[in-house]
Amino acid sequence: MDTTPLGRTGESVSELCLGPMYFGSRVDRETSFELLDRYYEAGGRFLDTANIYATWVDGYDEPESEPLVGEWLAERGVRDEMTVATKLGFGYQEVPASLDPDLIHQEIDRSLDRMGIDTIDLLYAHVDDPDTPQTDVMAAFGEAVDAGTVRHLGASNVPAWRIARANRIAAERGLPRFECVQPRFSYLIPDRDAGFEGQLPTTDELVDYCDQHDLTLLPYSPTLQGCYGRDDRPVPEGYVRSENRLKLRAIEDVAERKGVNGNAVALAWMLDRDQPTIPVLGVSTLEQLDQNLAAADLSFTDAERRRLNGIESYGFDQWDMRD
Ligand SMILES: NC(=O)c1ccc[n+]([C@@H]2O[C@H](COP(=O)([O-])OP(=O)(O)OC[C@H]3O[C@@H](n4cnc5c(N)ncnc54)[C@H](OP(=O)(O)O)[C@@H]3O)[C@@H](O)[C@H]2O)c1
Repeated sequence: MDTTPLGRTGESVSELCLGPMYFGSRVDRETSFELLDRYYEAGGRFLDTANIYATWVDGYDEPESEPLVGEWLAERGVRDEMTVATKLGFGYQEVPASLDPDLIHQEIDRSLDRMGIDTIDLLYAHVDDPDTPQTDVMAAFGEAVDAGTVRHLGASNVPAWRIARANRIAAERGLPRFECVQPRFSYLIPDRDAGFEGQLPTTDELVDYCDQHDLTLLPYSPTLQGCYGRDDRPVPEGYVRSENRLKLRAIEDVAERKGVNGNAVALAWMLDRDQPTIPVLGVSTLEQLDQNLAAADLSFTDAERRRLNGIESYGFDQWDMRD
């Protein structure tokens, strides 16, 4: 598997990240280990979990994803090979939704404890917190980096202007900046007024900011629950628009031509973007994982690329139209 630069860190990470959000809850331990093994065998070295995963699933009040990731890392002896990302800031159990500095430090310690590791390679602010001064948030993250418990920072579900503001504060104070963003991002674009319960979709402004300032984009929910390649998954609410009907047809045509699952085409389209883009894969079976990993080997002809990009695209470059 190829690698993609992570912001301006000077490091590169696997071009497809694996999200074990439901591992240990909806996906049982044995299957989760098989999926992690298969991803590793395919060359994948980048995992994306969070302190809250997946405490909203019935019967799972305790976070199960981080402990399972930690167990797998230890059992396979691969901790040093893997880039491990986690997140904090959403409320769960008795923890409020907040980026209060004390909570940041508390949740870093708890995540490290759950995973049984000493350092989080990439820590995301999982939400924005308008009630805590961004100076305090960036200072707390900076302290964690100084202490060696965190190596790099990312922002998820934070509006573009707030990420830009936080990074300006970091630059002025000599603190580490957000090197990447993890938004809700897929090939289909949602309605402007669609709401996703705290999950922020990408905007053109966010894409432009990342482009201008070398932040890597890590799209989450990249297959929109697999809707590009299975009949039992209609386009999710908030995405039912006329452009998206055309876009789905474009995906189906390209998938048929190439003999692959439509989800692989949507993922390959993300990998094909000029800007560093690393989809975060969600899967529950080996078949899905294999289909999605196939995206790494797909390439598009100019005509296919024009077809896919010609309908509507975030951060779409007008000049492409004139080539
Ligand atoms: N930062 C955030 O706020 C945030 C939010 C959400 C997710 N994430 C991250 O992003 C990762 C992925 O999110 P997600 O699970 O929402 O992604 P997704 O791509 O929207 O959905 C994944 C689900 O789609 C179905 N699917 C995927 N590939 C398929 C294929 N080839 N064929 C058929 N079905 C397929 C499967 O559904 P079934 O399992 O039902 O079969 C799979 O579990 C998470 O693990 C997490 O790390 C982050």
